Parts: sequence; C-alpha cells; structure tokens
Amino acid sequence: MKRVGLIGWRGMVGSVLMQRMLEERDFDLIEPVFFTTSNVGGQGPSIGKDTAPLKDAYSIDELKSLDVILTCQGGDYTSEVFPKLREAGWKGYWIDAASTLRMHDDAVIVLDPVNRKVIDHQLDAGTLNYIGGNCTVSLMLMGLGGLFEHGLVDWMSAMTYQAASGAGAQNMRELIKQMGSINASVADELADPASAILEIDRKVAECQRSETFPVDNFGVPLAGSLIPYIDKELPNGQSREEWKAQAETNKILGRFKSPIPVDGICVRVGAMRCHSQALTIKLNKDVPISDIEGMISQHNPWVKLVPNHRDASMQELSPTSVTGTLSVPVGRLRKLNMGSHYLGAFTVGDQLLWGAAEPLRRMLRILLE
Ligand code: HSE
Repeated sequence: MKRVGLIGWRGMVGSVLMQRMLEERDFDLIEPVFFTTSNVGGQGPSIGKDTAPLKDAYSIDELKSLDVILTCQGGDYTSEVFPKLREAGWKGYWIDAASTLRMHDDAVIVLDPVNRKVIDHQLDAGTLNYIGGNCTVSLMLMGLGGLFEHGLVDWMSAMTYQAASGAGAQNMRELIKQMGSINASVADELADPASAILEIDRKVAECQRSETFPVDNFGVPLAGSLIPYIDKELPNGQSREEWKAQAETNKILGRFKSPIPVDGICVRVGAMRCHSQALTIKLNKDVPISDIEGMISQHNPWVKLVPNHRDASMQELSPTSVTGTLSVPVGRLRKLNMGSHYLGAFTVGDQLLWGAAEPLRRMLRILLE
C-alpha cells in the first residue's frame, strides 16, 4: 500500500476532500499519514481506521518517507516545503491544490475527465508534480470539454459569476454577516407591508455604505452588490484570475504551440460555493445545435445538458440547485445573433468539488491504478 501524506485536511478544501475520500472509500486503498502545521502529536480525522498521531508538516525527514503527498495547505506552505523536499532528493508524487506550481514546466494541471491522456503521457515521462487547476477553468472545461475535444473552439469569452468560497472560508462567513446586517437594518419596514420600498432601499444603501458594515475580508460590500475584480492586478489590464483562463485552459489541454484565446471579466457575486459562467464561443465551423448538444452531454458523466427554456434554466442552472453536488449543468445553449459560428452557453459548478477537491482525489486514484 502506498503511504500517502495528507496536509491541510482541516481547512475548507481539505474538509471537502476528506468527505469525498470517505464517500469513495479511498482510505481503504492507501496508508494515510496525517500531518499538521500546529498540533504535532494530536489526533487525525476520523476515517474508520486507526491512524498515527499527527506528524509535523515541516519535517522534511517525515515527508521524505512518503510515496505521495496530497496538500491543501495553501501556496505559502508549498513555496516553503516543496523545494526543500525535492532538494533533499524526494522522488514521490506531489499532488497540490495551490496554484504555486501550476504553470511550472515540470507540473501537470490535473482534470482527468478532460486531460487523462495528458496525465498518462506525463506519468510515462516521469513527471512527479500534479496540481489542481483554477476553479473557474476546471468547471468551464468540465462543462464545455466536448467542444474542445472535437476541436471546435476558435476562441472563448468567459464572463464569470464567482462565489464567496473562492475567496476563502472567512469570506463566506462575511457574506452571510453582510446579508444579516442588511436585513436587520430594515427589519421593521419589512414587517410592515405598507412601508415604502424606496425608503427600504435608501436604508439598505446606507447600511451597505456605513463604517460598521462588515467588509474586513472582501474590502467592500458583496451582499446586495458585486465585485468586478478577482485576484491581483496585472500590467496588461487583466486581473490574474482572468489571465488564468487562457493560460490554464491550454495547459490542461496540452496545447502549447497554438493556444486557444480565452478571455473575459471575472466577477465576485453573492453565491456561496458555486461559480457560474456566461460563455461566448466562436466555433471554427457551423455545427448544428443538436450535434453540439450531443458533444457536450457525452463528454463526461457529470456534465448535464439543461434545455434552453425558462423553467428548466431557473430550476436547474443555479448555484442553489448545484451546490454540494458533482453535477455540472450547461444550459442557455443557442446560436447568437452574431452568426452561426457564435454560440452562447451558461454553466454552473461547485467550486469546492470539481473546482478544487475532486480532481486531486482522482489523481491519487490514478496513481493507485
Ligand atoms: N481564484 C478562485 C476565486 C478560486 O477567487 O474564486 C480558486 O480557484
């Protein structure tokens, strides 16, 4: 049995990973070794079998004894530990949720329903580093992978509606606090059906703009508003989140020579943990919509075509309906007024499942095959 070190299992992505590994009985197939950055000697998570006391996640000697390391500890940890471990001669597999190593030449971005061939090729070539992709990119490819697989995409524009979870657990809490604060500011008026809506609206804006509105994490109000900027500012006018769309899509697909242009605007909205994306796709030929539907829906077992009708879209194509599931619905699919080569689509996916934890545990399974 492979000795697999698990680091960062207590955080938000790590907890979702633990839950999925239990559901899929991954622990039956490995000897798990749990690590900690703060509680050496403490007890690991309850996984239905005995585990050793928690080991020090900074001990290169302990880490060196592992066949595989799976970390959700974050970029700072990766930056500090990974180089030391490799310098110490460790030849095990490193599976990581953080973005630190993603674009390195000796790392593969893992999303096996989309790029299993790339992963297999790199395993054969001896590559040891397997990194989870950016959540919006992974979710877009889980939804629209069929079009890329059939070589139909000339370019794509992705306008995103990203959930609070992408910014972190504290941000999710802050979003709910903001909602509560807004509600409390107009509770009396809401209870009175005769109260004036414009007065409620004025009070809501006053609450959102007040000094006491909780914005420590987001910096600005999100509840009842939105934030049209995610991650750092780049000199070319893109945000770093927007830059990732093209860079990571093409790396996942193994397209280094002729990258497909992918660009758009990334926006934070008040959803909890599902990212949504409105896509404009320029096809390189005129393909009937029924064929497109077939290619999308047959690409993988998790993508689900939602008929482009009002009721189905409202019921099945929302963060609320998708949250906590592995389903990746794609809907609003139609040719746009710009011409028969232009396709519109909308997709939703759980940012913590396919957007983070699931590709990592599946990579571990691939190593166990
Ligand atoms: N960067 C993403 C976001 C989450 O801020 O929503 C991680 O991929």
